[in-house]
Amino acid sequence: MNVLGVESSCDETAAAVVADGRRIISNVVNSQIDIHKLYGGVVPEVAARSHLEVVIPVIDQAVREAGGWDKVDAIAATVMPGLIGSLLIGSLTARTLAVVKNKPFYPVHHVEGHVYANFLMDQPPQFPFLALIVSGGHSQIVLFRGHGNYRLLGQTADDAVGEAFDKVAKIIGLPYPGGPSIAQAALTGDSHKYHLPKAHMRGKYDFSFSGLKTAVLREVQTAVGVDHTFPSTKLAAKLTPQMCSDFAASFQRVACETLVDKLVMAYNEYQPKSVVIAGGVAANQELRRQLRMRLPISVHFPDPALCTDNGAMIATLGYYMSQHVQPTDPRHLDVIPSISMTKTAWNIPS
Ligand code: KG4
Ligand code: ZN
Repeated sequence: MNVLGVESSCDETAAAVVADGRRIISNVVNSQIDIHKLYGGVVPEVAARSHLEVVIPVIDQAVREAGGWDKVDAIAATVMPGLIGSLLIGSLTARTLAVVKNKPFYPVHHVEGHVYANFLMDQPPQFPFLALIVSGGHSQIVLFRGHGNYRLLGQTADDAVGEAFDKVAKIIGLPYPGGPSIAQAALTGDSHKYHLPKAHMRGKYDFSFSGLKTAVLREVQTAVGVDHTFPSTKLAAKLTPQMCSDFAASFQRVACETLVDKLVMAYNEYQPKSVVIAGGVAANQELRRQLRMRLPISVHFPDPALCTDNGAMIATLGYYMSQHVQPTDPRHLDVIPSISMTKTAWNIPS
């Protein structure tokens, strides 16, 4: 069964056709990173307009590369969570196509989609598995007992870890998106140069990253000899390249340790068969290194290109939904911008 997956929840317009939730036939991603770089972050209105310009050509290319509409058996699209304007463009286009082309439609939860990128790898995870979901909008530990059957164990109380990478990069003068720039700068940095704290949370598996970001800000101010009244946008110019790398490496180490400490605790408590990591930050090599060192089983990672937003992960989740639940009426036009992983798209009535 071939599923067309459409993704537009943030700053990537993406479409892919995947066979049986396993084999990628086509995978087209149009990233807006170059546009948002100009502003140092994603501008929602600009993102929605850019999706509008490219959504049809992106879907068209994915379907043509898969052999045309006859080869598409179902359509899945991200309808939650994300930027409302961005979600609307992709999901309305996909739903309209489902009506016009007479295909069953499956509404997808973006964060679950990230987890399902792991089912595209040579060795898919086995249930029950623990998922560490780390992206620009999410930092969560979730226990998956079966398809559509999962429990949120913990999440961030404030900033997502990817958001912290992006904000810290801005403070130390590295380009957007912050994750890859910090990872690059950290290669030549001393990860123990600066002392940065780990937040203690009431919830056993909860995280907090906004304190870590503020701690970086304070350490940078101290390192360059200014107080908190000095404009943060002018701090980076006072850092030497070595200081910048040392801050990148110190922040990256502590951010990853914060995630891995909790994941190891959850592993010990739940003894899952597999552990998967998903979302844009899953591309981070330091995070992978720490996980390899501290967990007794090998961790499932998607290929780097499948860690960031893409249509293949949405198509894969759509395939598994098609095996377990009824499609929904594509004339329901709802999108849900903000939703945690306590509610899933699997139980939306058809
Ligand atoms: O999953 P994603 O593409 O979009 C969201 O759903 O948020 O994740 C984007 C986030 C950004 O915050 C970006 O800085 C981060 O993932 N990221 C990384 C790396 N590559 C992307 N963070 C750390 N290390 C990386 N190599
Ligand atoms: Zn994402």
